[in-house]
Amino acid sequence: MSILSGKKVLLGITAGIAAYKSAFLVRLLVKKGAEVRVVMTPSAKDFVTPLTLSTLSKNEVLSSFTQEENENAQWNNHVELGLWADLFIVAPATANTLSKMANGSSDNLLIATYLSAKCPVYFAPAMDLDMHEHTATKETFQKLQEFGNVMIPATHGELASGLVGKGRMAEPEEIVRFLEEDLLQKAPLYGKKVLITAGPTYEAIDPVRFIGNHSSGKMGYAIAQEAADLGAKVFLVSGPTHLEVSHSFIEKIPVTSAQEMYEAVHQHFTECDIAILSAAVADYRPKEVASQKIKKKEGELTLTLEKTKDILASLGAIKKHQVLVGFALETQNELENAKTKLQKKNLDLIVLNSLNDKGVAFGSENNKVTFIEANNKVTPFEVKSKTEVAKDLFRYLMNELHA
Ligand code: CTP
Repeated sequence: MSILSGKKVLLGITAGIAAYKSAFLVRLLVKKGAEVRVVMTPSAKDFVTPLTLSTLSKNEVLSSFTQEENENAQWNNHVELGLWADLFIVAPATANTLSKMANGSSDNLLIATYLSAKCPVYFAPAMDLDMHEHTATKETFQKLQEFGNVMIPATHGELASGLVGKGRMAEPEEIVRFLEEDLLQKAPLYGKKVLITAGPTYEAIDPVRFIGNHSSGKMGYAIAQEAADLGAKVFLVSGPTHLEVSHSFIEKIPVTSAQEMYEAVHQHFTECDIAILSAAVADYRPKEVASQKIKKKEGELTLTLEKTKDILASLGAIKKHQVLVGFALETQNELENAKTKLQKKNLDLIVLNSLNDKGVAFGSENNKVTFIEANNKVTPFEVKSKTEVAKDLFRYLMNELHA
């Protein structure tokens, strides 16, 4: 999955011949999972039609402060548009529009929106080579970058005038690649490695039976997704679940038993910066695993169980720079038991799950958690979706534990 997935992208199109490529750019951004809205300068409509762009973006295309064709003319709110966007890309960006952006001359909706935007702004210049080389244009590029805007440089090639030189807008594929790389490099966990365990473990009784539990894995997968969205490389050691992941930053390592999970976790722990163990690991496993299916007999069957290795505690015993997070599911003396677990296993944070609240149960989309730090700081949260809980967790790890 792309870091652009779920992002609100505002595309500003100005009046250059490269505007026809903006249709491809919209298509690519939508394919990456972004929500796209388009704002154009009035003259850009001579190069590419709003109908094409609204069809591809599945959103109305705006180009003026009011919708004149509408009887009850409505004001198009540039402030709202600017605030809506997670990122604003001006592509193609003509010399004229760039100069207006640099000088704040707000004579159209696109510039007014740019001046209202609070999000990162990218611009992809497109112009003839002499315009591109002119001192005025170079000063504009510099000024805009000094304002914090990011330039997606023009490339060298044949231009609409027939001349050959620098000034072609970067191809839509290159623009998307540039955006992805830039966003990832600026992501707060870029360069960090996060180890996550998720789901249940199955402990074999014989070739067809096992001891398992109801864990769905949803919490761990939501944590993995959030870590990857924040730019981290993720090792997701997962017990058997029906869940799937599709994020290039997540390496899923499927395991079945507690012993397999233990081995996979220890293979990656030393290189990781954060480890979050959310799996519901079986505490016991059959001492003997029958090599053939156990046949039913008269009377009772007794299974002797032995303890599995406590993966979390084993990491607590060897951790160095790593931030170590465990989960606790308690039904009584919740806080006290969770605090004891945190100390015993040498954790930095424990996430207490409560089953005593409505709307939270195994397999549910929601969770109600309390974070407890090693210094005994307790932070309770409301019932939230597991995705939101994952966001709270990383916000906490980054802000409070400086992970
Ligand atoms: N855990 C682990 N390896 C185990 C057992 C648990 O890594 N063999 C981890 C879980 O992933 C979770 C935390 O330890 O992060 C839960 O601690 P645990 O003491 O096992 O809690 P419970 O399973 O609730 O155990 P208890 O019956 O003691 O309450």
